[in-house]
Amino acid sequence: MAESKDYSEVFHIISLCTLDVICESALGANIDAQRVPSPYLDAVFKMKYIIHQRQIKPQYYPDIIFNLFGAGSDQKKCVKLLHEFTTTAIEKRKALIQAAGGLEKFMEEKNESSGHRKMAFLDLMLQMVEKGDLDRDGLQEEVDTFVFEGHDTTSAAMNFFLHLMGANPEIQERVHREIDDVIGDSVRDLTFDDIGRLRYLEACLKETLRMYPSVPMIARQCVEDTKVGNHILPKGTGVVIIASMVHRDPRYWDNPEIFNPERFLDSELKHPYAYIPFSAGSRNCIGQRFAMMEEKCIIARILREFKVQSSVRTDQLRIAAELIIRPMHGNYIKFERRNFGDYSPMTSS
Ligand code: HEM
Repeated sequence: MAESKDYSEVFHIISLCTLDVICESALGANIDAQRVPSPYLDAVFKMKYIIHQRQIKPQYYPDIIFNLFGAGSDQKKCVKLLHEFTTTAIEKRKALIQAAGGLEKFMEEKNESSGHRKMAFLDLMLQMVEKGDLDRDGLQEEVDTFVFEGHDTTSAAMNFFLHLMGANPEIQERVHREIDDVIGDSVRDLTFDDIGRLRYLEACLKETLRMYPSVPMIARQCVEDTKVGNHILPKGTGVVIIASMVHRDPRYWDNPEIFNPERFLDSELKHPYAYIPFSAGSRNCIGQRFAMMEEKCIIARILREFKVQSSVRTDQLRIAAELIIRPMHGNYIKFERRNFGDYSPMTSS
């Protein structure tokens, strides 16, 4: 829904950015996806569509029908490409470690060249494989889950955040003031300490995930008879939890349709499971702290320099809920360079 040339479609470029971040931090690989075309991202996009289509079309549930008449062969091609991407990353890292004479020496070399300790998540897992705590297939699965879960979810969250900022200028102004206050006069990367001080931004990011949880559905199977209210769900029953319905339940949220970050400042949840963007229980998201830090760093950098405006109002925004949600017609944002004279920091620091 590009209304004028002043608005840029940002959905795809933000996904490329989060893919770069997860590849560097989890795999130790710089793929420069923001500049070099990424077949991986195209395959992710296609796979999400294929899986979603299969979910909503029961005629494709049997493999034979799906393979003969559905997108079975396209799926195979995508899965091959996705696995090749992560396999290549694993093999490259292993080769670098071997060439350096083991993980310890490899880390020493890296620390010397970068000036600080930088260990990729993959290094930890390779260590586990070496010790026999994880097998090769397990490693591949972990890496696949990590790269997928680690970029698309964060990208969706930042996209909806930018939309909400652009549609709520007063709230955006308060975020600007906080960022100015924390960063001061310069435009620079955030420190760990800065991240902790961006409390209002954090409340806005949490409120974004309340209204637009990146993972729309969480599926589970009852491993025993389970009582829910007055009903017994027999063992084996499939259960689907729709996070956005939980997040808009008026029993637990006042004015749930209103974007109001205040609700995450100093107030308790009315129920421990009223807010579940990262799921809950033993298989909840292991990347939630990382995601919050990543989002704060990227968003603070953008909003430090720009005011954003959305091309549509929130009630006009249409959502496509596939494996991860996305704005159905793209996310059109206008960026206007800030005049720092407009804002005075909330406190002097
Ligand atoms: C805003 C960002 C994120 C959201 C909303 C999110 C949400 C979720 C949810 C709802 C699940 C549970 C899915 C299910 O049970 O069906 C999950 C699992 C997972 N997430 Fe995230 N996630 C985010 C960011 C990340 C990041 C940055 C990483 C990696 C650094 C990550 C890694 C994982 C992994 C590995 C799992 C699987 C955990 C398991 O099965 O034990 N996530 N995430």
